[in-house]
Amino acid sequence: MSERFKAFRVEESEPKQFVRSIVERGIDDLPEGELLVRVAYSSLNFKDALSSIGNKGVTRKFPHTPGIDAAGTVVSCADGSFQAGDQVLVTGFDLGMNTAGGFGQYIRIPSQWALALPQGLSPKEAMALGTAGLTAGLSVQALVKAGVTPQSGDVLVTGATGGVGSLATEILARAGYRVVASTGKASEHDFLTDLGAAEVIDRQAVIENAERPMLSERWAGVVDCVGGETLAAALKATCYGGTVTCCGLVGSPDLPVNVFPFILRGVSLLGIDSVECALETRRQVWNQLAGPWKPEKGIAQAEECGLEGLEEKINQMLKGQIRGRTVVTLD
Ligand SMILES: NC(=O)c1ccc[n+]([C@@H]2O[C@H](COP(=O)([O-])OP(=O)(O)OC[C@H]3O[C@@H](n4cnc5c(N)ncnc54)[C@H](OP(=O)(O)O)[C@@H]3O)[C@@H](O)[C@H]2O)c1
Repeated sequence: MSERFKAFRVEESEPKQFVRSIVERGIDDLPEGELLVRVAYSSLNFKDALSSIGNKGVTRKFPHTPGIDAAGTVVSCADGSFQAGDQVLVTGFDLGMNTAGGFGQYIRIPSQWALALPQGLSPKEAMALGTAGLTAGLSVQALVKAGVTPQSGDVLVTGATGGVGSLATEILARAGYRVVASTGKASEHDFLTDLGAAEVIDRQAVIENAERPMLSERWAGVVDCVGGETLAAALKATCYGGTVTCCGLVGSPDLPVNVFPFILRGVSLLGIDSVECALETRRQVWNQLAGPWKPEKGIAQAEECGLEGLEEKINQMLKGQIRGRTVVTLD
């Protein structure tokens, strides 16, 4: 197939200097794979921002097309797992990392990376959720499985105005939890209250007295997107038998904590991975996101941009200035 299409491309112009532009590519330039998808929407995640500035922990080889999420229509599928015209959703695996991703109008991937679009979500809504929504859903599922109920007490969400944090806030609130949202953005308290947060606190309040070995019991559960001393302080302030999920590192990848929360209060720390997690787990969470957990407000408030608007959005994301989710329109 010789059709040309548009893609947002990152190139290493000279060692450690990365430039971004919109280029034309051919379908033949795409990697091998059974499934060819015409992408209608992608979304912007923190990992895409890192890939776009040449972070080799995310993308080893450039030139590269980022975009760890994609939703669109199957053009062809060599192994018969999908039919031409099927609507599919792809998040994670190697998409957008070292495989040309959703910031291009076509992707070619292994068919096992794709899920049929769940009933109850349009392709655009699915991308308003994207990897951030799946991660928020996996975090909530982990708390539920660990026995944290709305009656257990307050649930803290850190990095609450971000993609994962804002969707986790809304999902938990819809499920009846009392959510305390922690944010560094004094101007966005109303945004978080509107999503259902019962209380909004400054991110400094979470790490107050964090140097102490333990803190007073405050949280029945925590969805942490920040890592570093925020996660350490959240663990130290988690109630007896409580559960903390950890998915992110916007603050720091380090975890400066002692063992006291674990051995004195039986606190559990659960890691969340949306990239390699099993297809069946993804299906379960996507069905929840399309049904009872559907974060309608987060979806409705997602901002939209084309490939041309990506550069500015990436810069905002790297400065921690993004609020909620950004859908990328490919058509
Ligand atoms: N494990 C997985 O599978 C998985 C999947 C998706 C994302 N992630 C990770 O989860 C994290 C959040 O992702 P996202 O898509 O929600 O990113 P995002 O939209 O950029 O949101 C991150 C939020 O964290 C807060 N923040 C930013 N810099 C901070 C700092 N230095 N200290 C404390 N808080 C800070 C900000 O919220 P406030 O201003 O409200 O505090 C920001 O909006 C990232 O590290 C991402 O890589 C992991």
